[in-house]
Amino acid sequence: MPNVVCIGAQWGDEGKGKIVDHLGLSADLVVRFQGGPNAGHTLVVEGQKTVLHLIPSGILREGTLNLIGPGVVVAPETLLDEIEGLEQRGLKVQRDRLRISDRAHVILPVHRALDEAREEARAGAAIGTTGRGIGPAYEARVGRTGIRIQDLLEPDTLAACIDLALEERNYLLKNLYAWSPFDPEEAYALAREWGVRLEPYVDDVSVTLDRSLREGHSVLLEGAQGTLLDIDHGTYPFVTSSTTLAGGACAGAGIGPTHIDHVLGISKAYTTRVGGGPFPTEDRGAAGRHLFEVGDEYGATTERKRRCGWLDLVVLRHAVRVNGVTSLALLKLDVLTGLSEIRACVEYRALGEPVRDFPASIRRLEACESVYKSFPGWNEPIGEVREFEALPAAARDYVCWIEDELKVPVSLIGVGPDRDAIVERVNPFQA
Ligand code: GDP
Ligand code: IMO
Ligand code: MG
Repeated sequence: MPNVVCIGAQWGDEGKGKIVDHLGLSADLVVRFQGGPNAGHTLVVEGQKTVLHLIPSGILREGTLNLIGPGVVVAPETLLDEIEGLEQRGLKVQRDRLRISDRAHVILPVHRALDEAREEARAGAAIGTTGRGIGPAYEARVGRTGIRIQDLLEPDTLAACIDLALEERNYLLKNLYAWSPFDPEEAYALAREWGVRLEPYVDDVSVTLDRSLREGHSVLLEGAQGTLLDIDHGTYPFVTSSTTLAGGACAGAGIGPTHIDHVLGISKAYTTRVGGGPFPTEDRGAAGRHLFEVGDEYGATTERKRRCGWLDLVVLRHAVRVNGVTSLALLKLDVLTGLSEIRACVEYRALGEPVRDFPASIRRLEACESVYKSFPGWNEPIGEVREFEALPAAARDYVCWIEDELKVPVSLIGVGPDRDAIVERVNPFQA
């Protein structure tokens, strides 16, 4: 049975949650492989909205096992709240539906404080993080002063880990940022309580995946954030602290790359970004306002307004290359309805020279001008359309042009927030 990786091809919020929920019908297991509660993945089922930060987006599909992989940084209180929220709505979230890797790292309140203190100190040059402690938790992981889910279950190991985790960070908080330090005993008590509550879900995710793959089950690997927020290939330093690319999915889940059959890149039919950093096709005029209002572009985690602009083919070419995208899901095509003109950036131009590949230098990027191609718009509402041929000709032309430019087929098209508001040309699990 095929296994599919879904990743964001832009700056996050492309509609990954909706696509994973939609494709969840074809998958036996859904795995989050990186990121943490900085993610906000929205699922809409018959008008009811669910926002998930840590639980994989397969959870609303009965029969799926949802795994939080070793590459994720977990905020236990967020996860426990999320479980509780779903249970209050009548969904049973037990071990047969949700498991958490024993190797995943834990976000402590001290990580969140450091995230916020640093952002405050950067002032005008702030990254605009979600303030969820993501950077400091990943730093602790690679710096070998992190705490893993497994450590929460072993009282002696935990006590030593807490001391190590707090020592340097408390020093920084107190002396560099004039913030209050954290008390090790309180931190220990809190972490032990998390351990007790999370223990029923703890699992060796790699072993579970291996067993399922041998039995012929299908796996859907769910990325968070997006390619341009990737630590290596994004708009550094305005990025998140993990590998958001398809290439990171295997390590973050605990399987080998030979299992992956299809990489589904997810993009909006335009572009948004939340937080600081360059955004070449940002539109602060009437078109940007249309995208913001019709697209209802508020962050699902922080409720910040998302910056909006046109589709950027330089960005998508970069995403197709660094992820090895097999096919593309193009979401929110319905949001373009009513625009008299639609634009898409074909290349950048710097000092009169064309720039086709996304530059590493932020300074160079800021000096680039976007070169646009213009398309006629359409006025017909498309929310009820389920067949490609039933889309307005102008919408079909826009999609076909994107395919020609990127040399990648568009397999899925989003025409509304609901899980079924999709034109499915090809199901990646059947490709
Ligand atoms: P994610 O982080 O990639 O999962 O995306 P978010 O959930 O943060 O943001 C996507 C937003 O667009 C959510 O509010 C979705 O409900 C909504 N959405 C997803 N697909 C579509 C679509 O095709 N059309 C419209 N109008 N809204 C969509
Ligand atoms: P989903 O999975 C959009 C952005 C933040 C900030 C930068 C670093 O819903 O697509 P961090 O808190 O990760 O250190 O912030 O990354 N960011 C996201 N933007 N969608 C997300 O997740 C994001 N997760 C982080 O706004 O610019
Ligand atoms: Mg989101």
